[in-house]
Amino acid sequence: MSTIILGIESSCDDTSAAVIKDGVLLSNIIASQKVHEAYGGVVPELASRAHQQNIVPVVDAALKQANVESKDLSAVAFTRGPGLMGSLLVGVSFAKGFARSLGIPLVDVNHLKGHVSAHFIDTPDEKRMHPQFPFICLLVSGGNSQIILVKSHDEMEVLGQTIDDAAGEAIDKCAKVMGLGYPGGPIIDKLARKGNPKAYQFAKPRVANFDYSFSGLKTSFLYNLRKWVEEDANFVENHKEDIAASIEATVVDILMDKLRKAVKEYNIKDVAVAGGVSANSGLRQAFLDHGKRFGWNVYIPSFGFTTDNAAMIAMAGYYRFLDGDYCDIDAPAFARMVIK
Ligand code: KG4
Repeated sequence: MSTIILGIESSCDDTSAAVIKDGVLLSNIIASQKVHEAYGGVVPELASRAHQQNIVPVVDAALKQANVESKDLSAVAFTRGPGLMGSLLVGVSFAKGFARSLGIPLVDVNHLKGHVSAHFIDTPDEKRMHPQFPFICLLVSGGNSQIILVKSHDEMEVLGQTIDDAAGEAIDKCAKVMGLGYPGGPIIDKLARKGNPKAYQFAKPRVANFDYSFSGLKTSFLYNLRKWVEEDANFVENHKEDIAASIEATVVDILMDKLRKAVKEYNIKDVAVAGGVSANSGLRQAFLDHGKRFGWNVYIPSFGFTTDNAAMIAMAGYYRFLDGDYCDIDAPAFARMVIK
């Protein structure tokens, strides 16, 4: 008999539902919330309200596209955390109600582990190479920058993480003060393709072990920005490609320096990248270059699985379901949730 999992993701500003049948993705519907653009960042209350409006049609569309009826589902997997509490509650409550009404198990998923699980998704048209355990995954998003040792589908250890800002957060903040809009990551990426990555130097952190820090980059960028603008009010407009390329190069260097150290220390061959920032062209290229230079087998997700999506939640939920790792109906959502 087939195992069919409905995945629900609502941790931040994307409402998403996906259906996975025996490890193969049949649908992945994402409703992105445009309402936040005007505010230059996600407004939690507005996010919760939009999830509330989107969740039923999104699940409906995911089931229809997968050509699956709710009675065929084996379990409902949902993001339990980390994330915005009001946003999480919409997905968690929906998942509970839906699973209870169908009399099927509920499976809770840690959103961060979900990002790692994106590397195991197959589609009907494409069976990708999957990383072999143990592997290292660099998880870089708007809220997290972590180096994770992945021992199995569920057993993961955080080797290092940011002590302040996340990589995506630093890029978004730099883009915001440059007046580039929100989210800044994709805009910086586009501009950087036309700029000189060596044009400007920004601070690089000196933190212990495999940890990261991005607040120094942000501060040194702001310091430079003030100097530039004092000298020439149009400086940013006239040099935005070079500035973007230099910011991106600094972030990529910081990320890859620590990752190289961890991969060497743990003698790992398979190295993956996940999370929203893994859509970045400079970071993807750095992975390919490291693969060639150091003989790593690199795993770069397809673009659709970089930012938040329910496919990765359904995938992680699929393995938990096979392990019999169900969750109780009274399980609360967690705004903070670590990998352990
Ligand atoms: O994983 P994600 O969708 O969710 C959150 O953690 O919220 O990551 C979003 C982050 C944002 O900081 C966004 O600017 C960044 O991923 N991002 C990018 C690119 N696409 C998205 N950063 C750099 N280059 C990109 N192409």
